[in-house]
Amino acid sequence: MTDTYLDMVNSGLGKQLASKLGLPRPVTLRRFKAGADFPDGSVLVLGKGRAGDAAAKDLLAWNLDVRRTAQDVDRVGAVVIDYTEAESPAQLGGPALELASALRKLRPGGRVITLSRPALGIGTGAASGAAGSEALSPAVSAARQGAVGILRSVAQEMRGGVTANGVLIADGVAVDAPSVTGAIRFFLSGRSAYVDGQFLTVGDDRGDAGLDWDHPVAGKVAVVTGAARGIGEQVTRTLAASGATVIPVDVPMAGDALTKLANELRVPALQLDVTDPQAGQKILDLVTARYGRLDLVVHNAGITRDKMLANMDQAKWDSVIAVNIESQLRINETLLASEDLGAAPRIVCLASTSGVAGNRGQTNYAASKAGVIGLVAATAPLIAAKGGTINAVAPGFIESDMTAKIPAARRQISRRLNSLQQGGLPVDVAQAITFLLSDAAGGINGQTLRVCGQSLVGA
Ligand code: NAI
Repeated sequence: MTDTYLDMVNSGLGKQLASKLGLPRPVTLRRFKAGADFPDGSVLVLGKGRAGDAAAKDLLAWNLDVRRTAQDVDRVGAVVIDYTEAESPAQLGGPALELASALRKLRPGGRVITLSRPALGIGTGAASGAAGSEALSPAVSAARQGAVGILRSVAQEMRGGVTANGVLIADGVAVDAPSVTGAIRFFLSGRSAYVDGQFLTVGDDRGDAGLDWDHPVAGKVAVVTGAARGIGEQVTRTLAASGATVIPVDVPMAGDALTKLANELRVPALQLDVTDPQAGQKILDLVTARYGRLDLVVHNAGITRDKMLANMDQAKWDSVIAVNIESQLRINETLLASEDLGAAPRIVCLASTSGVAGNRGQTNYAASKAGVIGLVAATAPLIAAKGGTINAVAPGFIESDMTAKIPAARRQISRRLNSLQQGGLPVDVAQAITFLLSDAAGGINGQTLRVCGQSLVGA
């Protein structure tokens, strides 16, 4: 699916017209390019805490032009704000107003990133075994959640493909933990092009920050379900381009496309319905016979059977639950009981913003996708015991065969109702998944990352 409106407002006459009429002016996003993946311009690190110092050290190691004040900087590529030591709401204004003075200098495709600690009971990454925040005073908790409010609002104010996202560092986790570095790297990168207004919680000190960023899953053996087309196909291609050996799985009906993709990547294709009670074992049998172990799994296969609840029938309800959530539960159970997983097994499950916020006409789908979010939180400690992680990605409106079925007028509206004023591409979801499957994200577990351009649905 192409977004003709986006093309139109980026052409000479269309641009002028959209500007005159006050219409949305989405821009082409800065997406990942191997070897050229940082924003254009200086990186400003605001706030005087230890997290800011640690971030500045990382940024210097990446050969970026790091500044600690907005003065005398002309072109700003990114701003990193350290709120980790904020103890009262009165301390929030200083860095926020310093950010304000830099915003006009932010280049298209730039980034704003906050570093902060989670407020009480919110985003503590409880499933990851992080130390809790039980002893927080109301003022500290208010300051921490205040930083979240700032970030989410800044994200909504940005234009020109600039995104704003935050790293929440759980109490007890070092400010320079590998996955803090990993999350900063991800948010700076074109790999996070369609992630906006979101937070990643680093729940422990595991992970590896020293990866080759162009090939963050090098040497890993991966399986992607629903790989014949759409998001799954892009996940397969992106993981392969990022260094993994990827075995694509899809139903026999999609056999031709699946075989074509597998031949291109020189891997075996697995024709399999994920609702098969033996699906987990069949995946393990094929992959271990050929490659000796399985490191990464992406539960991407999914279907919609949309109807208002008043018109819903048993078959539509059951098929969505069976494909979207029961298959994931059953396959995970087999995988976690197996001896054939690699040393740091990682799973990413496809949820949806419909699972976060609900959606009219999608009770069955929302039940399945909200179920995925619950599954991930509860499986996190089980897989952590094996040295691994499990996270969900919740896409918003992504241009694919699935969303092409939405009636035209509704599709146009759905596309624009987010801070980036456009739908995402399958590759945007694939890039976020690639990061979560990499060892750079080893300290991120049990979470749901929205890839939705800060969709207003369930914002
Ligand atoms: P799609 O319909 O284009 O592709 C889904 C793939 O899954 C197809 O190749 C299909 O053959 C395969 N599949 C379906 N049932 C299967 C089964 N029982 N066993 C094995 N494979 C099966 O869908 P799209 O858009 O690429 O979505 C991929 C995932 O992302 C789904 O889980 C979907 O719910 C989720 N998602 C998509 C969004 C979007 O805007 N496109 C938004 C939110 C979530």
